[in-house]
Amino acid sequence: MSDDSSGSIAARNERGADRGVDGGTSRLRGTDRSAVSESTTGATAASRTASPPGEALLEIRGLKKHFPLTQGIVFKRTVGHVRAVDGVDLTMRRGETVGLVGESGCGKSTVSKLLVALERPTDGQILYKGRDVARMSGRALKAYRREVQIIFQDPYASLNPRMTVGDIVSEGWAVHADIAPKKGRLQRTQELLDRVGLNPDYVNRYPHQFSGGQRQRIGIARALALRPEVIVCDEPVSALDVSVQAQVVNLLEDVQDEFGLSYLFIAHDLSVVRHISDRVAVMYLGSIVEEGTDAQVYGSPSHPYTQALLSSVPLHEPHLRGQKDRILLQGDVPSPADPPSGCRFRTRCWKAQDICAQEAPALVDRGQGHASACHFAEARTVVPVDVE
Ligand SMILES: Nc1ncnc2c1ncn2[C@@H]1O[C@H](COP(=O)(O)OP(=O)(O)O)[C@@H](O)[C@H]1O
Ligand code: SF4
Ligand SMILES: [Mg+2]
Repeated sequence: MSDDSSGSIAARNERGADRGVDGGTSRLRGTDRSAVSESTTGATAASRTASPPGEALLEIRGLKKHFPLTQGIVFKRTVGHVRAVDGVDLTMRRGETVGLVGESGCGKSTVSKLLVALERPTDGQILYKGRDVARMSGRALKAYRREVQIIFQDPYASLNPRMTVGDIVSEGWAVHADIAPKKGRLQRTQELLDRVGLNPDYVNRYPHQFSGGQRQRIGIARALALRPEVIVCDEPVSALDVSVQAQVVNLLEDVQDEFGLSYLFIAHDLSVVRHISDRVAVMYLGSIVEEGTDAQVYGSPSHPYTQALLSSVPLHEPHLRGQKDRILLQGDVPSPADPPSGCRFRTRCWKAQDICAQEAPALVDRGQGHASACHFAEARTVVPVDVE
């Protein structure tokens, strides 16, 4: 991923390119941004009757999702469970971006599906503004489903190919009709397209007529259409070319303040999350192994897994390249159907001792200033860069 400044320039370039596909210019260009955001959202962020800044918006407590492993075609027997999510604790405050990072298969998407109520937890709780989502029904559940939106990883699979872009963006208003009166829906849809950097005249086009980056912009417009408070971004840039990744991240950052959003930003690459997150949680085999501010996790990682992940992040500063602490991880990620006893990282950890096989380390601060799930947590500088 490119650095901040080149990313911003690239974003402006792509926005220009998006609009310029047919040489058309946006008739909404130059519209006052705050006016657009107010009319597209129907309310400014400040005018919402919501929890004050800094207050916990989403609290995940001991969250578990175990999928049954079955055998047999006619008579299915459960022969085990895939512990996709196995005890996750995480808090997201209003206006905050929490980065969730970990290798493929560690349970990130399952956490995101649980958060948007596409899956039901096996155990644990998700509290939204203090209320247990599992106990919500009727109006409260409907409001929750509107306020917590998701952007998916694959912009090719997440948009219905038979629907026009306009129908995709406005689809949610069929259920949440109060957000957009029928009369003004076309204009609102076009305002949203304009806001995410697409030509509003493309409202009748189909997803296949757009590039990957543009499709992800459509996904963002679809989420914004419902005036959400939280957007779960499940690897929103992982499927995009590196040159386009920064543009989409910049767009998400741009709309965050304007729409009063909080993000859970998921990625498998620490460098992507570093750009956007206030706090970072590192996940391994179904649970969080380290959590702290971006400065803590990048500047003084104290869990061996975080240290190994950081050591594999490419450095853009040529003069620093030789100074990186290289840690090569041995072995593969164990199966979540049969995780190791004690510390789940022990089969790949160079610091493992007997206690690591016997006792699962709690995610607590052992003197490093932030939480780490390691019996022998020890801050180590892996990447010699100014994390600010
Ligand atoms: N519906 C499901 N049924 C069975 N296993 C699943 C299901 N969804 C995910 N898994 C398994 O759960 C684990 C975590 O998957 P996922 O949450 O998609 O990880 P990530 O998003 O971090 O790559 C994987 O081993 C995956 O195969
Ligand atoms: S608890 Fe033990 S095995 Fe786990 S990360 Fe720490 S040292 Fe390694
Ligand atoms: Mg995933």
